Amino acid sequence: MNFKRHTVTAALPYANGPVHIGHLAGCYLPADIYVRYLRSKGEDVKFICGSDEHGVPITIKAKKEGVTPQQVVDKYNKIMGDSFKEFGISFDIYSRTSSKVHHETASTFFKTLYDKGVFNEEITEQYFDEKANQFLADRYIIGTCPKCGNDNAYGDQCEKCGTSLSPTELINPRSTLSGEKPVLKKTKNWFLPLDKMQPQIEAYIDSHKEWKSNVYGQCKSWLNSGLQPRAMTRDLDWGVKVPIPDAEGKVLYVWFDAPIGYISATKELTPDWEKYWKDKETKLVHFIGKDNIVFHCIIFPAMLMAEGSYIVPENVPANEFLNLEGDKISTSRNWAVWLHEYLLEFKDKQDVLRYTLCANAPETKDNDFTWKDFQAKNNNELVAILGNFVNRTLVLTHKYYEGKVPDASEYTKTDLLLLDEISKFPAKIAASIEQYRFREALGELMNLARAGNKYLADNEPWNLIKSDAKRVQTIMNISLQISSNLAVLMEPFLPFTSKKLSLMLNLNEGLKWKDATRTNLLLPGHQINTASLLFEKVEDETIVAQVQKLEDSKKQNELEKSTAIEPAKGETSFDDFSKMDIRVGTILEAERVPKTDKLLKLLIDTGIDQRTVVSGIAGSYKPEDIIGQQVSILVNLAPRKIKGIESQGMILMAENNKGELSFVAPTKPDMNNGGAIK
Ligand code: MF3
Ligand code: ZN
Repeated sequence: MNFKRHTVTAALPYANGPVHIGHLAGCYLPADIYVRYLRSKGEDVKFICGSDEHGVPITIKAKKEGVTPQQVVDKYNKIMGDSFKEFGISFDIYSRTSSKVHHETASTFFKTLYDKGVFNEEITEQYFDEKANQFLADRYIIGTCPKCGNDNAYGDQCEKCGTSLSPTELINPRSTLSGEKPVLKKTKNWFLPLDKMQPQIEAYIDSHKEWKSNVYGQCKSWLNSGLQPRAMTRDLDWGVKVPIPDAEGKVLYVWFDAPIGYISATKELTPDWEKYWKDKETKLVHFIGKDNIVFHCIIFPAMLMAEGSYIVPENVPANEFLNLEGDKISTSRNWAVWLHEYLLEFKDKQDVLRYTLCANAPETKDNDFTWKDFQAKNNNELVAILGNFVNRTLVLTHKYYEGKVPDASEYTKTDLLLLDEISKFPAKIAASIEQYRFREALGELMNLARAGNKYLADNEPWNLIKSDAKRVQTIMNISLQISSNLAVLMEPFLPFTSKKLSLMLNLNEGLKWKDATRTNLLLPGHQINTASLLFEKVEDETIVAQVQKLEDSKKQNELEKSTAIEPAKGETSFDDFSKMDIRVGTILEAERVPKTDKLLKLLIDTGIDQRTVVSGIAGSYKPEDIIGQQVSILVNLAPRKIKGIESQGMILMAENNKGELSFVAPTKPDMNNGGAIK
């Protein structure tokens, strides 16, 4: 299918912190490369982004900083927008979901579905924090993931295994507001019946087997486990108000309103917005990180289908995650390279970061950013290949011809082969970009620079100048043509360098992608400008300092963690305490629960009986070391299934600041099993 125009979006980032390299590598950089390429091809394209300003991540941040949610989003919307701009992420609009247009658009969208009778209105029991007097949606609640055993899974998603969850699926749920165990309370919400829509969505996904395998695979696995109705409203006070009667104190689910933000932003951008959202000849592409796949490939398309007048995404090229020096990037642990801090160290070197992140993009699997690699990519590729070629070409042109492009009088056979090879690069690079293979595309761009470098090295114009000045003219002409084509083709990847090089070559403005199939962009006699280096070496000291900075922040973090004591819990009554039946027991058997990191299956003699308990202590104890160990066990805890095993009770453990666990056991040898702990 041929498309007339393109709507390209990059995930609206939560406005709750500055931008780091993980954001950039995950979706903003690939999206920007894609869009710049489309523009260079002369395509009609709108590049849409903005801040996601609703949802629990925002209110949690506000609470942490002791300010209002509005103050949080105002602050970060500005910081994030500035960072994107500084790194050349060329959105046509960077909007925000707190805007009036967005509230209206999201509201109308919801109302349309409501009027069409799309939603199931249901009263369900939701977790409620009695102390905070608030329902606990999404990230307000954490607990153990029923799929992978991660202790810190959120109410909407486990970040470790990627499963999308609802709060009631969490084992051992606790409120992130008070740390308390929440109670269940009835409330009314509006559900999107994804179960009923499954056939439609399945047909849609099946018609997109060309999607990246990580994306297609995730969608299939959700479909295979059967879609569930999902609440599109929340009992919260920060967000877009639910625009129907009887919905006091409720807002739209953030994952309902945020993707509509793409539409609202387009509306703000152009009165022609409907073309970009409702015309079948528009290609809609969402760039996202892998944790957003279900929302963009299943839930948002389902919303669009239910509404009826919109197109659905044609592709959703999601990236995996970027790690930093072997560790997961984390805002709260300050384990990140922040864009605004990068610029303090590496002024005007945005393209070096763009290059490194693209060359190392987590396109098919998680990848690692290291400062050593950053240095190597800069010194061995940008400086030694691209920069070196261009610099030699320009310096020699000034030296031999006072900066005037010499005429190519006679081509050798190898010259002709090379010229032919050069003319094929735009198509090669384009093919990779159109398949969302940006690393490969960048590799091809560098191959063009390599070809140029090799050409100079093979022909040695600096030696030939004394014996065959005529031949040198041809060599330099070809080298200058390659430099010009590089300037055009590098623009999507290295826009700042492209600009600089174009200026040095005094290139016509407005050259397009297809112009780079030509090998005569510079005419004989054309005057070029003064040359300066495109890239500079990054020294060892600089890298050592960056690594040190990360190490320092890690130390600082460990220090903070090791001195932090959990805040005291609220008062409890003696009655409540004495409801708990805690006994002395002895471990009779212990083994690992397969496919988990933390879980042991224990057989305990409680004095009353022998019973099975699943306990998350494998990080601190080996099964063979604890047979015969006395423990304290809560015996009247309601049994529950963990990893398919029924656990009948809970072992009491002490935990230190490093997260290490210890049994809490009698200190005298003759305390019999079944003895009460009170
Ligand atoms: N704010 C979300 C995140 O950072 C992404 C929202 S994308 C949108 O994970 F489609 F909802 F806008
Ligand atoms: Zn999980």
